[in-house]
Amino acid sequence: MFPEVRLRRLRQTPGIRRMLETPLPRPEKLIWPAFVIPGTNQRQPIDSMPGQARLSIDQLLHDLDPLVQTGLGGILLFGLAEPHEKDPHGHAAHDPNGTVQQAITAIKKEFPHLTVVADVCVCAYTDHGHCGTLNPAGQVDNDATLNNLARVALSHAQAGADIVAPSSMMDGQVRALRTALDQQHFDQTLIMAYSTKFASSLYGPFRDAEKSAPVSGDRKAYQAAPGDPRTALRESELDEAEGADILMLKPSLFYLDILTQLRANTNLPLAAYNVSGEYSMLHATAERGWGDLHAMARESLLSLTRAGADILITYWANQYAQLQKD
Ligand code: PBG
Ligand code: ZN
Repeated sequence: MFPEVRLRRLRQTPGIRRMLETPLPRPEKLIWPAFVIPGTNQRQPIDSMPGQARLSIDQLLHDLDPLVQTGLGGILLFGLAEPHEKDPHGHAAHDPNGTVQQAITAIKKEFPHLTVVADVCVCAYTDHGHCGTLNPAGQVDNDATLNNLARVALSHAQAGADIVAPSSMMDGQVRALRTALDQQHFDQTLIMAYSTKFASSLYGPFRDAEKSAPVSGDRKAYQAAPGDPRTALRESELDEAEGADILMLKPSLFYLDILTQLRANTNLPLAAYNVSGEYSMLHATAERGWGDLHAMARESLLSLTRAGADILITYWANQYAQLQKD
């Protein structure tokens, strides 16, 4: 006890502090979520997400080059559909010649060692913007959606994706994907389940980027309730039982308690999705001069590592060099 014990002794020099510190997670731990659009030479900055843009495949390859050279772990691909390509089921999501499918193949060709993950959902491809097919009452029909999700995942696996990541929060989606993949001999394709995904208010910038907001209603009938942690934990348990290879928590910074509990409950690898709202709020704060952007970013990533995430899915992944600098 004080005065014999003085904890400040352990913090007196940068050298001692560095020795005791958990380092910033290495770029190998990071997955960069990216938005891919058709065409060539297309670069549409996303206003609500400074530093991020919707990119055509050639531009994506261009941006990836330095990131891959400096050790980026992976990329998570999202596609966009034009209004005329959208339908009630989101069938465009499994077009073998779709933009995401083409991007997967192009990235694996150019960067064979980069881990390519594809988001498996239909909300960017349905005319109503929900993550599945609707029943006559206007609710998302769970079982009618599963087959479609399996087709999406298969199209990604066929294009060469290392990992498929079902994000629609349908019950049974992991099993449906595993069964379909195994039947087509894709038994080595990994499933990273968005296993505990909350109905969060932090997806706004992403929905703006993806033009994927539901036309009416919300996602509360399928995404987990922020106030019901037990059911949220059961979501991950169920996905583990269905055969997920990697579990995921999303969002992450407002849910560090859940991350700690997931870490204690599973031996599966755990990914934390540092979502658009978590990214953009730091930008908004920094723009007003109320905080140092990169210091806040480093601190937020460190919190995810501390809480037990193995993999960080983060928009900071394309700015790792800048994060390190100051
Ligand atoms: C949709 C999906 C969402 C995100 C990833 N996949 C948003 C949603 O549920 O509307 C959010 C990612 C982010 O905010 O960064 N299946
Ligand atoms: Zn969705």
